[in-house]
Amino acid sequence: METIILDWLNLVVRWTHVITGIAWIGSSFFFMWLDAHLEKPAPGKEGVEGELWMVHSGGFYEVDKFQVVPSAIPRTLHWFKWEAGFTGISGVILLAIVYYLGAEAFLIDTEVADLTRLQAVGIGIGTLVVGWVAYDSLFASKFGQANMLLANTISVIVICLVAVGLSQLFTGRAAYIHVGGLIGIVMVLNVFGRIIPAQRNLIAARNAGDEPDPTLGKRAKQRSVHNNYLTLPVLFIMLSTHYPATFGHPQGWVLLIAISVSGALVRHWFNLRNASTPALWPIPAAVVIFLITAGWASFPTIQAERAAVTGDKVEFTEVRAIIDARCSVCHAARPTYEGFDVPPKGISFDDAADIRKHASAIKKTSIDTDTMPLGNETKMTPEERQALGAWIRAGANIE
Ligand code: HEC
Repeated sequence: METIILDWLNLVVRWTHVITGIAWIGSSFFFMWLDAHLEKPAPGKEGVEGELWMVHSGGFYEVDKFQVVPSAIPRTLHWFKWEAGFTGISGVILLAIVYYLGAEAFLIDTEVADLTRLQAVGIGIGTLVVGWVAYDSLFASKFGQANMLLANTISVIVICLVAVGLSQLFTGRAAYIHVGGLIGIVMVLNVFGRIIPAQRNLIAARNAGDEPDPTLGKRAKQRSVHNNYLTLPVLFIMLSTHYPATFGHPQGWVLLIAISVSGALVRHWFNLRNASTPALWPIPAAVVIFLITAGWASFPTIQAERAAVTGDKVEFTEVRAIIDARCSVCHAARPTYEGFDVPPKGISFDDAADIRKHASAIKKTSIDTDTMPLGNETKMTPEERQALGAWIRAGANIE
């Protein structure tokens, strides 16, 4: 009963997370597009740096951009912050539902690190909190301000180290999501903690008749540049849980870093274009990094090792026995594993035909990677994986 409620809650929160995330990233892309398409204003528009016209859904829109705070602050000013806020809140709740309440299955893999639930959850939350504090302190500090390039480099290196470190402690999937969570929290708190307050200060200064402090605006801009480069990596990480070939790879962190870099390069290409200094190189660079990574990861090393040991023909009866022993507690029309009322992802292995139908999915999760059985709860052995692999390679016959 309890798990059913959690499943529905999971759905509602995930739905919210995706909707608010789309609204947030969408509005941020829209403003970048706006900035890039502004034209010189018509004469006589005081304080206006650029203008543009748009047509959408039968209406015409005129936008004027003021570089400095306008002399008269309009009565209604839209801030665009709750998209980020709700994405952050729903993300943290989702993290707790999936990875902290389901720590045994999704967070902890005792073959990676023998952590208790409390330790694992503590490390997860600790990473997010310490990560934000370290990042924010670095860029708020005199050192960070004076050595921007160095500070940026340090942050990238630290994120890579977090990815490596977490992959030695959690399941591959949880390691990915915590790196994504850290990036997401940095982005949300940049908006709430730095960008919005800076904008408020600018307005307060204008209202008080003071000259707004330009450094606040400059620092807010810096955080928004960070957010800009982080958007494509964080979206990749959100989607990666559907691809066991990424997080399930023995060196999953390499893929995490390389694919994120290719995403940031694509963003860089857009930025150069928007800044009217277009350059093509980021796109081929991103494609090359992506292809090399995908090629390297797919190079079937694990498979080759497993094939080398098992030359014999594997009968379906043996496969049936392995699946029954290692998978069917969860993947059955009526799972017996505690907390499961229905087979996960609708995948059950009750009939021989079901097993055959899912052979390529089984290969992805249990032979090419070790993502299934979940957290290796049922203690599947490497020999059993080899046997399944040999059976699939020979055509997955169930006769
Ligand atoms: C302890 C329970 C459990 C066991 C044991 C288990 N699984 Fe799963 N399996 C799950 C859960 C939960 C999911 C859904 C994961 C998710 O939400 O992405 C899943 C998903 C899958 C998927 C779909 C993956 C995807 O991303 O679409 C496949 C294929 C799969 N399991 C195969 C297997 C095989 C093969 C075995 C046995 C070798 C196995 N599982 C053992 C719980 C289990």
